[in-house]
Amino acid sequence: MVEYIHVEDVLSEDMVDREVYLRGWIYRKRRTGKLIFFVLRDSTDIVQCVVEKNVVGPEKFKNLDKVGVESSLWIRGVVRREERAPTGYEIHVNDFGIVGPSHNFPINKDKSDEFLLDNRHLWVRSRNMNAILKIRDTVFEAIHGFFRENGYYETQGPMFVTGAVEGGSTLFEVPYFGKKAYLTQSSQFYLETLIFSLEKVYTVAPSFRAEKSRTRRHLTEYWHAEAEAAWYHNDDMIADEEEMIVYIIQRLLEKRKKELRLLNRDVKFLEGIERPFERMKYAKLVEFANEHGVEMNYGDDLGADEETMITKHFDRPVFVTHYPIEIKPFYHRPDPDDPKVVLCHDMLAPESYGEVIGGGERIYELDVLLRRMEEEGLNPENYYWYIDLRKYGSVPHAGFGLGVDRLVWWLAGLDHIKHAIPYPRTIRRVKP
Ligand code: 4AD
Ligand code: MG
Repeated sequence: MVEYIHVEDVLSEDMVDREVYLRGWIYRKRRTGKLIFFVLRDSTDIVQCVVEKNVVGPEKFKNLDKVGVESSLWIRGVVRREERAPTGYEIHVNDFGIVGPSHNFPINKDKSDEFLLDNRHLWVRSRNMNAILKIRDTVFEAIHGFFRENGYYETQGPMFVTGAVEGGSTLFEVPYFGKKAYLTQSSQFYLETLIFSLEKVYTVAPSFRAEKSRTRRHLTEYWHAEAEAAWYHNDDMIADEEEMIVYIIQRLLEKRKKELRLLNRDVKFLEGIERPFERMKYAKLVEFANEHGVEMNYGDDLGADEETMITKHFDRPVFVTHYPIEIKPFYHRPDPDDPKVVLCHDMLAPESYGEVIGGGERIYELDVLLRRMEEEGLNPENYYWYIDLRKYGSVPHAGFGLGVDRLVWWLAGLDHIKHAIPYPRTIRRVKP
């Protein structure tokens, strides 16, 4: 039995002069006389390979010459040190076999963003996407790791729902056997029910928003990591989030430096992110904005543009708290000391990225909840089960939602959120 190894395992001094078996795809290829140089890529890295006509025979040499980039193949060859090769080593191929030939691979250097998105199913093979997908994998892994190490149970809410969490304007309606249902905007309310059983819960699931906004940060389908904890107040939740973000960054720095560098991410910047993060009340943020040339009145919601301009002045995340009650959904708990503001928080990422987390303390008093729903014109019948939680042993609690694609977008230093997810869904795109 032949033992195949990965390209990554070949790129070291102790592999020099050893014969290895590899398999993967042709990333680049050129011929000079009786030599073919190609770069082999697999999931782990790339390595230059050299094939001599005299070694493999004229028949095989011709076959290799004919196929294009992205052909899949296996090779047997000897590892040599080669300074001029892209990853410092070279394989002298003794034998190979083409597994799946490829001709005229549609993607080459000068393709537009639009073309690359139409061909996302092929573009995911690119080195950049490969690096992004690995960073994303580590971010998901770290999210689960953090919650599990901190006493949260993983759970799931439904995707088909009958009510809005974040206001009705961004609901996707779906026909549901003669009735109407919606795709969920957030699993928050279901998590709130589950804390009465498990106390601390989290879920990582898609959320759907019929967002009309065409910005660098909006998807219509995105991955949402949400948590909810009984007995927590706003500051307790903020403390967990801060710890979680640092935990995720630590994992990335342990496992993904190579990928971050490949994307030209400033790794030093990430290394410098420490607790405590900045904290700022909304009122202060409005002042800060105006001092930095961003016109904002008290009571204005923060749009993408404001966030971009404000957060470029930060070198670590900022928790903005105490928003005016009018600009936040009904479930946020009014501050007992100043009921015109709510005990909530948004975490804004620095470097012009902006909101990555939204969370806060929930109203747990029945009368307050009913009053807030009435003020917002919501029909209590649609929320009977949410209201029930305040009737049968209610407890103070808090939670948050983290946009995972936004987090990847920021941590990987990408220019648009669509690069942070394998198959982005936006107003204009539902394929491939
Ligand atoms: O701020 P949002 O709307 O808050 C909620 O949904 C709460 N119910 C969460 C909770 O407390 N359980 O959304 C939370 C996060 C945002 O901070 C943002 O990172 C992300 O979800 N998000 C989006 N990400 C990509 N595309 C969109 N259209 C997004 N909308 C929100
Ligand atoms: Mg928000």
